[in-house]
Amino acid sequence: MEQQLLAPLTYKHHTFSNRIVMAPMSRRRATNAMPQDNMGIYYAQRAGAGLIIAENTAVAPNGVGYLNIPGIYNDAQQAAWKKITGQVHAQHGKIFLQLVHTGRIGHPANQEGRPTVSATALAAAGVLRTPDDAQVPFPVPHALTTAETANLVAAHVEAAQRAIAAGFDGVEVHGAHGFLPMQFLHPLTNDRTDQYGGSIENRSRFLLEIMHGIMEAIGPERTGLRLSPFSGLNDLPPFEEELATYHYLVDELNKTGLLYLHLSDQSTNGEPPIPRWYLEELRQRFNNLIILAGGYTQETAETILQEGLANMIAFGRPFISNPDLPHRFRNGLPLAPANVDTFYHGGDNGLIDYPTYSRQRECAGAAG
Ligand SMILES: Cc1cc2nc3c(=O)[nH]c(=O)nc-3n(C[C@H](O)[C@H](O)[C@H](O)COP(=O)(O)O)c2cc1C
Repeated sequence: MEQQLLAPLTYKHHTFSNRIVMAPMSRRRATNAMPQDNMGIYYAQRAGAGLIIAENTAVAPNGVGYLNIPGIYNDAQQAAWKKITGQVHAQHGKIFLQLVHTGRIGHPANQEGRPTVSATALAAAGVLRTPDDAQVPFPVPHALTTAETANLVAAHVEAAQRAIAAGFDGVEVHGAHGFLPMQFLHPLTNDRTDQYGGSIENRSRFLLEIMHGIMEAIGPERTGLRLSPFSGLNDLPPFEEELATYHYLVDELNKTGLLYLHLSDQSTNGEPPIPRWYLEELRQRFNNLIILAGGYTQETAETILQEGLANMIAFGRPFISNPDLPHRFRNGLPLAPANVDTFYHGGDNGLIDYPTYSRQRECAGAAG
């Protein structure tokens, strides 16, 4: 049977050089929410991916959440991203930007003193790192007013427009991992009585307004969405209407021409939370591209593509330590392990200093 993972994919107006996606990965190398030059080197090194989805990037100053996350809400950030997309395109890569608002998963100290916000004033359990290296509990967020909620929908749309102006080939909305859109979806963090709370339709409204607004502004063929049903991440446990909520969302989005749905199969206990029957059902419900992520190897990726359950597979950690991952897959070369200690800090170290396989061999030869 013909191999799929390494074969090009032409869809709508896109041509992807292979079906390997670099998963969005926060590397926390920004300074004051400004993307840095080493990030351009990092992404350009990985341009062999059929699609790079650049790390989660804040749509608003109160949605940065974690330490050293970049933003896409002002002109300087847009200009810095433009340099980065230029470097990726010079290597014939394709790059989308993941747009995030972290909601209650954050701390004012990481976002220039701005209070965290959410659908409801309920703090998440857990801690996060702040600039003085302290591990502090998540604070109680400010419950957004209806007008503030609508403003954040607009912030997502503006961020998407900025991303396109900065040269990105498209955007992915981060609707996963317990960040703000999920806080609206989930009844535990949404006890609102306005049009953004209550029924499944109302709890889905924030995310659907974002998606519709972005698709109208930049086109559905340049828009994707990441979801993580059943994940329980960031203190949002499974809930009774979860399946019905995701069915509603997907059915609504299937009417729109949205380019892709990207499922993150990741949970707090390390077990993949998305059952196979759900993947099969999703394939039935959604007509455009499906990307799956979470613990894939070349072999398991190829199998699931052959089974027709996905169109592309995203790899996260393997891309950190193997900038030439598609080349290694193509040639059956061994993969280098990633150093967890430099995932989220370390400057250039652990970001741009992982060699390609041929460079690794040259260095080994020189040393020996
Ligand atoms: C260092 C690191 C940062 C991550 N940051 C993000 C992120 O910004 N947005 C997101 O949706 N997922 C993020 N993830 C999850 C990855 O996109 C991916 O789904 C996960 O690593 C599982 O894929 P893998 O087993 O191939 O690594 C991150 C993962 C890692 C390891």
